Amino acid sequence: MTPLNPAARANVHLIDHPLVQHKLTLMRNKEASTNSFRRLLNELSSLMAYEVTRDMATQDIEIDTPLEKMTAKVIDGKKLVFVSILRAGNGILDGVLSVVPGARVGHIGLYRDPATLQPVEYYFKMPKAMEERDIIVVDPMLATGNSAAACITRLKVCKPKSIKFLCLLTCPEGINTLYKEHPDVEIYTAAIDRELNDHGYILPGLGDAGDRIFGTQ
Ligand code: URA
Repeated sequence: MTPLNPAARANVHLIDHPLVQHKLTLMRNKEASTNSFRRLLNELSSLMAYEVTRDMATQDIEIDTPLEKMTAKVIDGKKLVFVSILRAGNGILDGVLSVVPGARVGHIGLYRDPATLQPVEYYFKMPKAMEERDIIVVDPMLATGNSAAACITRLKVCKPKSIKFLCLLTCPEGINTLYKEHPDVEIYTAAIDRELNDHGYILPGLGDAGDRIFGTQ
């Protein structure tokens, strides 16, 4: 088993809210249908969206309530961007967008070259003015960490204001790898599982997230 680097662990926000943990347990169960897996992921993603956006900047504006004037807060700056790592990241989008409906969405597709084992980009589409935006990268599973690290390396070319990583599940290997490549990127997750197996699956995990979301098993 790979030990979790304590410095890397300090970069992880473990979302241990009872509702999050309850829904995650239901999703892990191999008997969960595609329909309920997708619905739970949707619900969980919206709950996690509250945590990952907790420190969003706000500004004060003057408004009139029906009774008097007041100074009240609104979200400041350009709309944030959720970047989905294809394809499983798309399963998180509906939930996070239900909480932040004005957010923009980017997509990145990577595959692993069988000869070099390096991630190769096959799709990249982002909103305009990325240098003025905060990014939250979404992918249900932070497993080896290689795709996440490659995705973030690519996104940094756009010079965004900040990057966070939101996943459902991760493991020591994924956290250590992402920290080594991108120590500035904080991870938000509902669980840190025991380990990766030889096929790159998280144990105990929940299986192949993409297959379970899209019913392609
Ligand atoms: N991707 C998945 O879908 N599941 C894992 O366990 C690891 C990577």
